[in-house]
Amino acid sequence: MNRYISEANHSKNLYEQVYDYINHRIDRGEWQMHDKLPSIRDLARAMNVHRLTVFKAYQLLKQKQRVYVKDKSGYFVSPTYRDEVPMNDAHISTSIQRNYLSDIQQIPATYQFSQAIIDPNLLPNHYFSEYVKNVFDLYPKVLGSYSPLQGDEELRGALTEYFLQTENLYVSADEVLITTGAQQAIDFVAEVLIKPRDTVFLERPTYSAAIDIFRQKEARIIPIDIHPYGYDLDRVEYLMKKHKPRLFYINPTFHNPTGYTLPKEQRKMLVDLAERYRCVLVEDDPFHDIFFDHKPPHPLFSYDTSGYVIYIRSFSKYISPGLRIASVCCRPWLMKQLLIAKSLSDNGTPLLNQKIFLHYFLSSRMQNHLEKLRIALNVRKGLMEEALSTTDWKWESPNGGFNLWVNVPEHIHVDTLFKQSIEQSVSFVPGEYFDPERTMKSWIRLSYSFANEKDIKEGIRRLRAVIIS
Ligand SMILES: Cc1ncc(COP(=O)(O)O)c(C=O)c1O
Repeated sequence: MNRYISEANHSKNLYEQVYDYINHRIDRGEWQMHDKLPSIRDLARAMNVHRLTVFKAYQLLKQKQRVYVKDKSGYFVSPTYRDEVPMNDAHISTSIQRNYLSDIQQIPATYQFSQAIIDPNLLPNHYFSEYVKNVFDLYPKVLGSYSPLQGDEELRGALTEYFLQTENLYVSADEVLITTGAQQAIDFVAEVLIKPRDTVFLERPTYSAAIDIFRQKEARIIPIDIHPYGYDLDRVEYLMKKHKPRLFYINPTFHNPTGYTLPKEQRKMLVDLAERYRCVLVEDDPFHDIFFDHKPPHPLFSYDTSGYVIYIRSFSKYISPGLRIASVCCRPWLMKQLLIAKSLSDNGTPLLNQKIFLHYFLSSRMQNHLEKLRIALNVRKGLMEEALSTTDWKWESPNGGFNLWVNVPEHIHVDTLFKQSIEQSVSFVPGEYFDPERTMKSWIRLSYSFANEKDIKEGIRRLRAVIIS
């Protein structure tokens, strides 16, 4: 231990040496994710330093998101930092973050409630071959051509038209970038706007890959609670004034995982706040067309007059995940930077995917498909809610999207419930995966979009049996 702590080491303060020592032990895997660190008193005694020195080292570790604090319980190793990187492989970057949700979704289960994706049987698979043939007839050289960097011009034009007609949203084709899914778009935005220690607001809970991406950029994350009625805007303003965030990543329409939708009145107010405090709003909107009773309000982007909103609209969730088409709308100053990120990443989304999507997207079949899809998903949501109605679990019934965000009573230990459910071949996602602070211990996300009606009934029956046993 004294190898690390030495008064003679003049280049570093004592607390920085303690910090290095703890970092080193975490790097070596001696303290692993969620392990509790020694108490300040114990470590100070063991290292023969003052308690304040250890406290300062812990504060620095917390600031760098290497550790997190649980009220009255102490300091714990953060899960999303250099986790499980093979120690001897010098070729692997130790800064790569782990995608935790994807780990959960890899676990095999017959009753899949962890995947917020559409049952492939509900997608228009048969019709696609027809559109693929059309595309090859119309563009015989499509496989021999790269896409323009910003995306196929015809597709960008069609999307601007669609946004205008459906959302009253004025955007020119120059302000649209086609990306390979929304996730790529979030990654580019983070790459372009965030440098280490910049402050980023994330909803709590939020899309878990977004947490991983912003952590990867070493952003300082401030969680903003999202409620069925939206945000506490007074608090958002207070926090914006205090922390001056670079951006606020939001998913305001049929939010993943909660299904909540930000009401119209709050949309305009949030855009005003963003302008006032010069905070970019990154509006991620992959579920906009999946509504059940009534259409959601227009995107926040439609209220933006000063360029403080970036609009990410993916179509991969409900038209064709295999094509992975998404678009980003933003003002020219930012587009220039995003184009650089896109060129460094893949130099353009595959042209064939864009052309097939375009021809299907513009067809009347697409609108029929969407209507049928909404009905089918609403039926599945209803079945899941009915099957859960005999429990004392609580949730807000969403008007769109793929998920139920369920509050389970405190006596249920979600980790144990998860393990026992997997034994019954039922999967779901524990709520803490969506929480930047990982403290939402009494919540789970159940997706009704992937399992069919029969599997929803049987899967929830098994889940109920686990609670009773
Ligand atoms: C809120 C949110 N954003 C982005 C994505 C990723 O979408 P894509 O498949 O277009 O990358 C998802 C996928 O679940 C999501 O829920």
